[in-house]
Amino acid sequence: MEHVSVLLNEAIEMLDVKKDGIYVDCTLGRGGHSREILKRCPEGHLYCFDLDQNAIQESTPRLKEIGSNFTCIHAPFEQLGTILDRYHIDQVDGILMDLGVSSPQFDDGARGFSYREDARLDMRMDQEASLSAYEVVNTYSLEQLQEIFKAYGEEPFAYKIAKEIVTDREIAPIQTTFQLVDTIKKALPNAVLKKKGHPAKRVFQAIRIEVNHELSQLQTVLIEGLKRLKPKGRMVVITFHSLEDRIVKNAFKDVAVAKKVDKRIPQIGVEKLEYHLLTRKPVTASVEELKNNPRSHSAKLRGIERNENE
Ligand SMILES: C[S@@+](CC[C@H](N)C(=O)[O-])C[C@H]1O[C@@H](n2cnc3c(N)ncnc32)[C@H](O)[C@@H]1O
Repeated sequence: MEHVSVLLNEAIEMLDVKKDGIYVDCTLGRGGHSREILKRCPEGHLYCFDLDQNAIQESTPRLKEIGSNFTCIHAPFEQLGTILDRYHIDQVDGILMDLGVSSPQFDDGARGFSYREDARLDMRMDQEASLSAYEVVNTYSLEQLQEIFKAYGEEPFAYKIAKEIVTDREIAPIQTTFQLVDTIKKALPNAVLKKKGHPAKRVFQAIRIEVNHELSQLQTVLIEGLKRLKPKGRMVVITFHSLEDRIVKNAFKDVAVAKKVDKRIPQIGVEKLEYHLLTRKPVTASVEELKNNPRSHSAKLRGIERNENE
């Protein structure tokens, strides 16, 4: 399936692209957001990150249709700071993130992201990375599996599923996505299997987050990215599940919302905030978008701006 960018207009509008600005798209994907940034900054420059070689190869010609003032970087976005330094860029006008996997990654059976396609357990966004879903499923201890299913999948049957995996893999390694789905189904009560939604969804999400270090990557890039914004520079982030959204919400709150003070204790000076929120509540997809793009259902967009120096 062609990747249809989520919250495209809303995110680009929020970024408020300047025609000579320096921008970073941390998640190039198929270039939907990057193309819109490029159209609006003919005299600036856009740096695009992606872990996935296919994303860079496919999107480069699409971006060239618009201009040549961009640089694609095959690296994890947690390296934002180091890579901007390499290009001698201290601060930027805007940073965009549209997290998660793209439709082509999900639909490509061979990548092993989908519980609906039979494939070798993989789930690596970066095809050169050493850790894949196969190692997680076949070498992590019962406790480690239970922990990631609970923490990254919010899976209520984390222990039972971890136990079933450990039992099954003693007979032979679990090689494929469908084998893993079968193991998960064996661990779940009938009542849960009858519920709406795929029974393997939470566990697949958890393994994908573990394989790609998604939450630690996000935490690092938020801290570094906020430091790298110019005054009036903006960061906009689209998330697709509650764990990601919580991390973004808290990172923004930490720098843009005054801490509650105990009025009984005399305060010296007033806390000066360097940033302000562009969204008190996250922006979600319109009725129209919800109808046309199923990926938009869980999407949440948040934005923040660095204040001008006084
Ligand atoms: C949802 S897609 C982005 C789609 C894009 N905005 C578009 O409109 O086509 C997310 C992309 O980010 C990449 N990605 C995810 N985590 C990453 C990370 N830590 N560093 C670099 N790229 C990452 C994925 O490989 C994927 O191509």
